[in-house]
Amino acid sequence: MLYDYLIVGSGFFGSVFAYEVGKLGKSCLVIEKRDHVGGNVFTENLNGINVHKYGAHIFHTNDKEVWDYLNQFAEFNRYTNSPVAIYKDELYNLPFNMNTFYKMWGCKTPEEAKKIIEKQRNNENVQNPKNLEEQAINLVGRDIYAKLVKGYTEKQWGKKCSELPSFIIKRLPVRFTYDNNYFNDKYQGIPIGGYTQIIEKLLKNVKVKLNTNFFTDREKWENIANKIVYTGMIDKYYGYCYGKLEYRSLKFESEIKNIENFQGNAVINYTENKIPYTRIIEHKHFENTKTNKTIITKEYPIKYKENEEPYYPINDDKNSKIYKKYEKLAKNEENIIFGGRLAKYKYYDMWETIKEALKTAKNEIN
Ligand code: FDA
Repeated sequence: MLYDYLIVGSGFFGSVFAYEVGKLGKSCLVIEKRDHVGGNVFTENLNGINVHKYGAHIFHTNDKEVWDYLNQFAEFNRYTNSPVAIYKDELYNLPFNMNTFYKMWGCKTPEEAKKIIEKQRNNENVQNPKNLEEQAINLVGRDIYAKLVKGYTEKQWGKKCSELPSFIIKRLPVRFTYDNNYFNDKYQGIPIGGYTQIIEKLLKNVKVKLNTNFFTDREKWENIANKIVYTGMIDKYYGYCYGKLEYRSLKFESEIKNIENFQGNAVINYTENKIPYTRIIEHKHFENTKTNKTIITKEYPIKYKENEEPYYPINDDKNSKIYKKYEKLAKNEENIIFGGRLAKYKYYDMWETIKEALKTAKNEIN
């Protein structure tokens, strides 16, 4: 065996793990099937703008340990996520707050807004929501549902809200203050200079092989290290023996615009069903970059097929049952660690991925 660990995947999970065990003298080899490190947090500098290649990545957490940890590797700015939604020719602030309610109904006080939402909920009289539509109306009333939830959610999941399970929307944050800050977390920001520099620092002393897929030479990789840290798809690892796990995918369409400022905000959601993309990202606003041109990316949700990137796990009953079977196999492995969003078939925010990697590395060392 040449290495202590073979790490499959150079996203946040694999990179934090490699850094942590590397500090204690363990040797790691990272293999990555893409032509760059970083997984989905990869940012690429184009025309002086740091472009979030796999969708907008805004760091936010309440966990001071993770926040301090990441701040070792980059300075963060004080970016606050305040997305805007466009429905037909109307523009609304998100998350749903007094600015949204004022625009929707002209009401100025929390009392007035609460009364309108309550009245709309009572009109519908939904007792036990059976689907996402009923659940959303029960939470925010008909108007907000129709203009700001319905079209966006149907595009996101490729199904009618009346056919989607209610569990997808457990909560819809409603705020009765004039506060457009999307996240409630204590710490929030974007690393100045992008995320890739963080990954590069984490992997500075680690051997990395890009354009290398674990499955093209599986036998070789299985015999190169004492242990494997696997951050790819768990169903693929087990040859889909219990069936394929379902995902939702995304298509990104980027363009350079010959203007300084295209939309005045980093994130604008398009909540109308007729427009095929869910949002437009204007990357320069993440870091307040001063350039003559700008780069925008339209985000289209699409059906997941093999060879597409698996972005969002569909954690419904059917897939959860399949995942549980794979999880059981994984738990019985002695020399393989499964970590990160694809191996755990779970949507993790960045801070959760980092937290999990730190915990896993600590367990290995103790
Ligand atoms: P990640 O997918 O990043 O890394 C896995 C790596 O393994 C990939 O590089 C892949 O190529 C490689 N790999 C897989 N199979 C392989 C194989 N067979 N051989 C070799 N390599 C292989 N979070 C947040 O906090 N704020 C945000 O704003 C967002 N925004 C956001 C937008 C979108 C569109 C998505 C999909 C996700 C987010 N996230 C987020 C979540 C964030 O992207 C996530 O927490 C981390 O990227 C997860 O890191 P991992 O290392 O688990 O996976």
